[in-house]
Amino acid sequence: MKVKKAVIPAAGLGTRMLPATKSIPKEMLPLVDTPVLQYLVEEAVASGIEDILIITNRSKYAIDDYFDYNPDLEARLRETGKTKELGIVRHPAEMANIFYVRQKETKGLGHAIGKARQFVGNEPFAVMLGDDIMMSEKPVLKQLIDAAEKYNASAIGTQIVSDNVISKYSSLKVSPLEDRIMKVSDMNEKPKLDEKFSNYAILGRYVLTPAVFDLIDKTEPGYGGEIQLTDALRELCKMEDMVAVDFDGKRYDTGNIKGYLEATIDFALKHEEAGQWLREFIKEKAKTL
Ligand code: UTP
Repeated sequence: MKVKKAVIPAAGLGTRMLPATKSIPKEMLPLVDTPVLQYLVEEAVASGIEDILIITNRSKYAIDDYFDYNPDLEARLRETGKTKELGIVRHPAEMANIFYVRQKETKGLGHAIGKARQFVGNEPFAVMLGDDIMMSEKPVLKQLIDAAEKYNASAIGTQIVSDNVISKYSSLKVSPLEDRIMKVSDMNEKPKLDEKFSNYAILGRYVLTPAVFDLIDKTEPGYGGEIQLTDALRELCKMEDMVAVDFDGKRYDTGNIKGYLEATIDFALKHEEAGQWLREFIKEKAKTL
């Protein structure tokens, strides 16, 4: 199995980040100076992905603009000799082949992924949630792709979360295969505590086979009245092999205020120009808290 295509659903309404997301897609919110989506595309490219489909909607045109050239801006940077900045602004347009399709109605993650059927065709493909950022040495998506290729199976990114939060995620029923890789036999979306299969939560990255599309088409609205990807995957893992990868890395949900702040601080601490300054600033600030 070779995975060369990725789908990034970015058509959600972002209601947990209002009012900013009234006019700015949450996937375009910056971590320091770089939009969340750029980190996702970088992870995809570093994992060997060549073609990326971003699922957008009618209020997300800032995404298409970002991955395009900007001739006026580039001309000004060229005239003023800002060569470094010129490279930085052209880079997003040259990272990968990026395609777009609109999800015309916001009917859930499963419904959004269903829009990728024609782009994907008959190949396995990756899914990267548009607001989930990973910090890791080996790209998290690459960890999943390696497992999917080794087991000739779909692969789901997971980590253990506490009982306090498992009800916000999908819970996996797993049995061990090898270090960090498990076989998946069932799952449920946002379970009540006494319904969870385990504390292994699905977190933001998937490698799926195209068999998922027929299952999405058959999926009825589930939790929250939305067509849930987890409901389709629950059927997929009963039809075909599926593994869960307890990935090595830290995951940030930038779609909520605390996750966004956590990611901003961690990425700022690693920032070439601002990192050292921020470290000193935090130390001083902590003395006053
Ligand atoms: P989320 O549930 O995190 O996004 O969906 P949301 O619906 O924007 O969140 P809130 O609760 O309103 O703040 C996970 C991913 O699925 C995409 C989102 O853009 C996000 O990347 N998504 C969700 C879609 O593309 N379409 C949908 O109908 C729902």
